[in-house]
Amino acid sequence: MTGARPGYDLGVWRRRIPLLASCVPMNNCSQAPQTDATRAAAERYLDSWNTSGMDWDAWMAEVALAKAEFAKLIGATAADIAVFSSVSEAASAVASALDLGGRRTGIVVSEAEFPTVAHVWLAQERRGARVSWAPVRNGSIDPAVYDALVDDRTALVSACHGYYVNGFIQDAARIAARAREAGALSFLDVYQTLGTIPVNVRALGVDFLASGNLKFLMGIPGIAFLYVRPEIVESLHPSVTGWFGRANPFAFDAKSLDWSPTASRFDSGTPPVINAYVSRAGMEIINELGPAKIRAWHEVLGRRLIAGGRSRGLTLHGSDDITRKTATTAFIVRNSHAVEAAMRARGVLPSARGEVIRLAPHFYTTLDDVDRALDLLAELEHAT
Ligand SMILES: Cc1ncc(COP(=O)(O)O)c(C=O)c1O
Repeated sequence: MTGARPGYDLGVWRRRIPLLASCVPMNNCSQAPQTDATRAAAERYLDSWNTSGMDWDAWMAEVALAKAEFAKLIGATAADIAVFSSVSEAASAVASALDLGGRRTGIVVSEAEFPTVAHVWLAQERRGARVSWAPVRNGSIDPAVYDALVDDRTALVSACHGYYVNGFIQDAARIAARAREAGALSFLDVYQTLGTIPVNVRALGVDFLASGNLKFLMGIPGIAFLYVRPEIVESLHPSVTGWFGRANPFAFDAKSLDWSPTASRFDSGTPPVINAYVSRAGMEIINELGPAKIRAWHEVLGRRLIAGGRSRGLTLHGSDDITRKTATTAFIVRNSHAVEAAMRARGVLPSARGEVIRLAPHFYTTLDDVDRALDLLAELEHAT
């Protein structure tokens, strides 16, 4: 494996990430490092604000371009995308569009959900929802459990594509097909997979798909995107709404809810403009490199993490099947937050969650970076 290279020029890309001069970032599952492109994008907004005072048309055009860039990543069109400031908000808007007053009150949720998404579904219990759980066993979920959990009383099936704890990838197409077969809708959280593997909404067959921007999409907090399958959009009327959800937001007609015919009916208030600038720049990097090439390098890095962790006596969390996981690899440690702090102090940035330390490399990571992170983690974990 030594001598393996990604299908792009690693050196060129590494020079575009100033943080690499001083650190080994291995926390992409939490926050991506800054690039020259994302910094320049933020500065473009600040310059526009400074020189024109307000350039509303250009700012709205940037939001539309960010939607288009997100759409490109998932094989959709800009009209299928709504913008939010977090995945939690996107899920809340979806929840508010569900009709829970009839027979279909079931919401099937995976236990691997990032808590915020599960919280949104639990909050629907006040509206009559019944939440049931697809269990996590040994760090992964058996896709067959959805077959029995989903039935003709299910309104929505919510699954994360990648498990935030250890990078386990669920079979989203199978879950969405089961939901569709039972007449239920499907919601997929791709925050931990988008930017790490090719994702195509049509191939997956999901009704809703959401992601924020600050992890593998190389962006910042404060912006998230929601895909809504165009065939269902006009049947949905989210009560979490606002003027940007209208067919013509600039009609300024307080007495009319003229629903936009596209996914922008899920938009609500003034969008996060500076975040749109930065997010587009980050997503352009991913689209330029291509998720397939990134995935190929992630598999090399992921195998090195798994084998290298084992050979150093570290305990892996979850499956070692790289075909069903992202490059995010989690090791069980005695005190994850203390280990994170100690690693940071020595120039390696991991991410602690509960009982694990997550090592989440990305397209710019070298095998030497992986070895350095593993050496340090093993040293700290084996110290008495
Ligand atoms: C899979 C996943 N979903 C959602 C979130 C958070 O979403 P929000 O944008 O609501 O903070 C995270 C992590 O921050 C995550 O890993």
